[in-house]
Amino acid sequence: MARVAIIGAGYVGLTTAACLAHLGHEVRCSDAEPERVEKLSKGQVPIVEDGLPELVRDGLRSGRLSFGASNVWAAEGAGFVFLCVPTPQGPSGRADMSYIEDAASEIGPHLLPESIVVNKSTVPVGSTKVVERSLGRSDVDVVSNPEFLREGSAVHDFLHPDRIVIGAEDESVAIKVAGLFLRTSAPLVVTDPASAETIKYASNAFLATKVSFVNAIAALCEAVGADVRQVVLGMGSDHRIGAEFLRPGPGWGGSCFPKDTMALVRIAEDAGYDFSLLKGVIDLNEEQYQRVVSKAERLAGGSLSGRVVALWGLTFKARTDDLRASPSLEVGSRLAAKGAKVQAYDPTVNGPLPGLDVRADPYAACEGASVLVVGTEWDEFRWLDFEKVAGLMERPAVVDARNLLEPAALRRLGFSYEGIGLA
Ligand code: UDX
Ligand code: UDX
Repeated sequence: MARVAIIGAGYVGLTTAACLAHLGHEVRCSDAEPERVEKLSKGQVPIVEDGLPELVRDGLRSGRLSFGASNVWAAEGAGFVFLCVPTPQGPSGRADMSYIEDAASEIGPHLLPESIVVNKSTVPVGSTKVVERSLGRSDVDVVSNPEFLREGSAVHDFLHPDRIVIGAEDESVAIKVAGLFLRTSAPLVVTDPASAETIKYASNAFLATKVSFVNAIAALCEAVGADVRQVVLGMGSDHRIGAEFLRPGPGWGGSCFPKDTMALVRIAEDAGYDFSLLKGVIDLNEEQYQRVVSKAERLAGGSLSGRVVALWGLTFKARTDDLRASPSLEVGSRLAAKGAKVQAYDPTVNGPLPGLDVRADPYAACEGASVLVVGTEWDEFRWLDFEKVAGLMERPAVVDARNLLEPAALRRLGFSYEGIGLA
């Protein structure tokens, strides 16, 4: 059992804190938002993550997990300090390290000798040296331990990781960090910091590449009259390809892919390598948003100006409440830019959003709509009464940007239907 500090109680920091407490460690978690700290101290979890509220409440009850507003309170006396504060995309596309550097400068003087600072946030290659400088301590080690948590399954991914990556100059330090995760019995990749940091960016960039690739194949399928669902089935059966991350959609989004792909392009550029492949992946993703908008325009009769468009789903993917860099929101704003009035519904959104008329239920969003766009693959959309939907719309037309619905069933009800990559 170790004493661990977690700096930053967001999607990553809170999951890391609750799971490490669950694994038996004594965890102090700090955050800069006092109201977030207050809610968490009462067991109120401000994000949608399966299993997280239960782990937070277990941790509080056992006394192994506590929350505070002071980074120094969390870090002093800890053997391990995880940095989980944001590394947002800066104006140049490079990761903004200011939160990381500020936190490290703040806690540096208060750390125990021989304690270990762990970069959990996604940080550019070479960041362990940046943190070492900010800490100003020669008796404290800094390691890279990137996270591979998918939102919506973060607890599962933490407790059942495919691998644990630790980048350290000194292997004995890496082994100490690995000891924290011993009970997950996951494969361990111990390497140097630069390689560990590169593994994170390369993994996310590859996943984004895989999604962009299948979105391009979907466009090809439409052009040659193939069915992308069959193509993906045939591709994914090859164990070298795998079936995961081959679902066509409106493009990829979220708080990581857009930020991390752009950061990697800049990291490469700064190192003298032109990562043209990844630039192409990013460009194709922009095109994908536009393909969805063009489909909606076509099904609305050729113009969106003055038309009502229903938009089902606003989060960047289903089973999360996260709107950050959501493809659906991007599509919504492009529809509005073409003069459409966008009536939106999402099961996790119950407040106003700029440029959207957010409705309380999916049927209300369809009132008078010339076309319905499905932007997020919420399962509840599949079971709705589409006869009722058809009756509410100005014309029964749907752009199913997640290939979530049944084309034949909808066409039998008189809908014009367009999916992604479907004949
Ligand atoms: C963050 C980074 O954005 C991401 O790059 C990294 O991979 C993991 O950590 P996430 O947990 O999703 O991802 O961020 P977010 O949900 O925005 O949470 C960040 C938390 O840090 C917020 O609760 C914020 O209040 C807190 N914070 C921010 C601090 O405690 N101190 C700061 O200086 C800044
Ligand atoms: C991602 C990585 O999966 C995770 O390992 C990393 O730690 C953080 O970033 P996350 O951002 O939660 O996790 O979402 P993910 O499930 O990867 O989806 C990212 C985007 O790609 C979403 O917009 C999603 O809708 C889209 N996507 C994903 C597809 O369009 N098709 C797919 O087959 C998979």
